[in-house]
Amino acid sequence: MCGIVGYVGSNSSLEVLLGGLRRLEYRGYDSAGVAVIGVDGTLSTRKRAGKLAVLADDLEASPMADGQTGIGHTRWATHGGPTDVNAHPHLSADGRIALIHNGIIENFAGLKQELLDDGFVFDSETDTEVAAKMLGREYEAGGGLAAALGRVVSRLDGAFTLLAVHQDEPGVVVGARRNSPLVIGLGEGENFLGSDVAAFVEHTHRALAIGQDQIVVITADEVTVTDFDGEPVETHEFEVSWDASAAEKGGWSSFMAKEISEEPEAVANTILGRVVDGQVVLPELEGLDEMLAGIDRVIVIACGTASYSGLVGKYAIEKWARVPVEVELSHEFRYREPVLNERTLVVSISQSGETMDTLMAVKYAIANGARTLSICNTQGATIARESDAVVYTHAGPEVAVASTKAFVAQITALYLFGLHLSRVRGTLDPEVAAHQLAELQSIPAKIEQVLGNGAEITQLAKWMSDSRAVLFLGRHVGYPIALEGALKLKELAYIHAEGFAAGELKHGPIALIEPGQPVFVIVPSPRDPNSLHAKVVSNIQEIRARGARILAIAEEGDVAVLPFADEVIRIPLAAPLFEPLLTVIPLQLFAMELATAKGLDVDQPRNLAKSVTVE
Ligand code: F6R
Repeated sequence: MCGIVGYVGSNSSLEVLLGGLRRLEYRGYDSAGVAVIGVDGTLSTRKRAGKLAVLADDLEASPMADGQTGIGHTRWATHGGPTDVNAHPHLSADGRIALIHNGIIENFAGLKQELLDDGFVFDSETDTEVAAKMLGREYEAGGGLAAALGRVVSRLDGAFTLLAVHQDEPGVVVGARRNSPLVIGLGEGENFLGSDVAAFVEHTHRALAIGQDQIVVITADEVTVTDFDGEPVETHEFEVSWDASAAEKGGWSSFMAKEISEEPEAVANTILGRVVDGQVVLPELEGLDEMLAGIDRVIVIACGTASYSGLVGKYAIEKWARVPVEVELSHEFRYREPVLNERTLVVSISQSGETMDTLMAVKYAIANGARTLSICNTQGATIARESDAVVYTHAGPEVAVASTKAFVAQITALYLFGLHLSRVRGTLDPEVAAHQLAELQSIPAKIEQVLGNGAEITQLAKWMSDSRAVLFLGRHVGYPIALEGALKLKELAYIHAEGFAAGELKHGPIALIEPGQPVFVIVPSPRDPNSLHAKVVSNIQEIRARGARILAIAEEGDVAVLPFADEVIRIPLAAPLFEPLLTVIPLQLFAMELATAKGLDVDQPRNLAKSVTVE
């Protein structure tokens, strides 16, 4: 939530900042702004409500003085609506400091009152302006910008990344972070700051992760990181493994379309290098065998789509590793005093690795004695660094706000983890495990096949573009996919959608069925001896008898659904546990195509942001 970029170097700050903001816009897109210390030494700012394009057009129509030091921000509003005035940067009282912020300053009301009592005047409704005014006051007390920022942040509660520049310190950008992301990009004669590496990957692949409660000062040639009291701290350099082009649309109509097309690769790359002689090898879990063999419970914590990947993982991990798995929303988990101890493994799942609800839940788990593992798509992200171990998904950068390729990569990582755990615990015959792995390795090619039927789904979405409500039913591993199908439709097409476990129908939801009600049904494979196929076909008949329009997702050759379905979307044969990696694809495509048919922006749906870094 909110994208932040900072730059010092010999290039045009405005160009670097706008380029960085363009790549970060998925983090928030209701207003944007920049502050630059111009070559004449004066600080100028420009900020506009609306998407980044509004700011870019404004700068083109009426250019501002460019320079070699600057900060830029793209906002997802928290305190105060998306207006020009509330957009960042915010200024100190003397107008010589510009400051941008990602996060929420929880004690801002008391601090604001203190400043009001001292005669300060505020232009905006934001918590950020409070920090800007405080920084101006502290600067006057001496010691320079970094020391002043250290004194300010030690009075703030909540989550924040702050970047600031001062007109009297050209060539310097200072930053501070607590529980919100900030990464340093190391260039030659130039340095960068960003909410994530996307902000600067076009210029450098060398990055430094900044820890909690740290302050960073960048100049063109130097980077200094300290704690809030100014004591130097150790930093950790890493190489950004993806290329700038990976975060470009590359001719696709949307990032979402591109990212769905990359799903075969996302699954394949997550498996790549992790299967040796028919066994899963996860070097990142080396040394943890004893702990993993001794756990008596797994709790998966995540939000939204990531939590549905956890629900799929639960079926696989319990089946293979014979350990109870609970899946819980991160924001519920830590407020109910869960029972945790050193035999509890808390597995967090997060594409961004920065979701505040999940980060706080991980910290809670650690503080209460549990062991932690994260499944994460972003190198060096906070959640990954806080956990005992991390299994990275290799989906590449996901830019569209709605998660697609990261979801299939998360499920894949959970399968790998489940097989690893079963080996450590000796709960699965190695031959069965090898067979499962071979099945998993066949999935990317099958996803390609499903993607090949995209045209049929586009047509269906066009027909259904005026639907007012759509229901999704599934059982077993099809149930989380029903939930995910409904979430995708809600967030992209703004259509009321609900996912249900098909067995739950008769306990209430069937009352929703009226003539013409579209219902997607994820039909389990009839080949599985324990399959719920016959039961789901009965469920279909029950709702069809009440007028529902049935859109079945069923495997090739399943003829039993034909008499009862209005449309059948086929998926290739796959091992039943792995079917979610196939059945979710038509639902992602459907939501995207329906939103497109309604003329909506599928990459940046209203009210949402990609990384939810506030609670
Ligand atoms: C929906 C979606 C969200 C995220 C959720 C968690 O399409 O993307 O529901 O899955 O906000 O985000 P991460 O995985 O970054 O923790």
